[in-house]
Amino acid sequence: MELSKRIDRAMTQAIARAQGADTPEGSVPARLASALNYAVTPGGARIRPTICLSVAKACGDDRPDLSDRAATALELIHCASLVHDDLPAFDNADFRRGKPTVHLAYSEPLAVLTGDSLIIAAFDLLADVPDTDAARALRLTRLLARHTGMPHGICAGQGWESESKVDLGAYHRSKTAALFVAATQMGAQAAGHEPEPWVELGARIGEAFQVADDLRDALYDEAALGKPAGQDALNNRPSAVEEYGVQGAIKHLQDILSGAISSIPSCPGEGQLAQLVRLYAERMTPVAPVRV
Ligand code: IPE
Ligand code: IPE
Ligand code: MG
Ligand code: MG
Repeated sequence: MELSKRIDRAMTQAIARAQGADTPEGSVPARLASALNYAVTPGGARIRPTICLSVAKACGDDRPDLSDRAATALELIHCASLVHDDLPAFDNADFRRGKPTVHLAYSEPLAVLTGDSLIIAAFDLLADVPDTDAARALRLTRLLARHTGMPHGICAGQGWESESKVDLGAYHRSKTAALFVAATQMGAQAAGHEPEPWVELGARIGEAFQVADDLRDALYDEAALGKPAGQDALNNRPSAVEEYGVQGAIKHLQDILSGAISSIPSCPGEGQLAQLVRLYAERMTPVAPVRV
């Protein structure tokens, strides 16, 4: 099955489960249940679960159900982080993936609860495995927790926004690259491979991804992005464009990506994975700015 179909199917099942699909009608709060679906569909690029499954495949993918759970858990955490990131308390964004953000479509309390519920659903997916998968699932849980919370996960990344002095690399590594490291490591771990050698690949793709996002935020418009443009300057956020300028940020992006292919650990599907990394590298490099 194509990776995108595996991801869509697993996401649909995870949301139905979080919505209480197998419980009597009227026994769950309907607006919150609806907001869970709204926050994950239509999905974005689904890059984190795609990387996770691609690494799992490159490592043999001997437990596909566990790989699907790992990929889905990552995407649920990612979607939760976007719902919280868009709240007025953070970036105060009104648009995401071409539609009103969750707090505008549903309310701020429901957006907070949607993010919380998606995070819990992610960990629940990893906890609910057959005994045969329990040892790997426990390691997956630890990897996901480490890259989501404090001291080095998404929470730490968002926490830097409340500091007066911020190191851009540390900010990008925790708010964004952490989940990409989780993606490569969890893909390997789901397939029974050691996760440690997969750190550098995830870190390089992830850090480059945030530099590319900063460039797009500065160069493109809302119609092209499906989310508001110019947000980093508006919210006074540290960004690669502010730190290096546009050309400097592009150079920084290319420097980070130049070591990505050679950081792929030796594994049976190394060649195919290199192709995927090349494709992502191409997509991340900005083309034809429409707004400067
Ligand atoms: C947006 O991530 C947030 C960043 C880390 C820059 P994506 O660009 O992966 O968002 P979607 O899931 O495709 O909408
Ligand atoms: C990524 O940073 C935010 C998260 C960690 C959720 P941004 O604030 O730059 O992401 P966008 O631009 O809102 O998607
Ligand atoms: Mg934001
Ligand atoms: Mg951004």
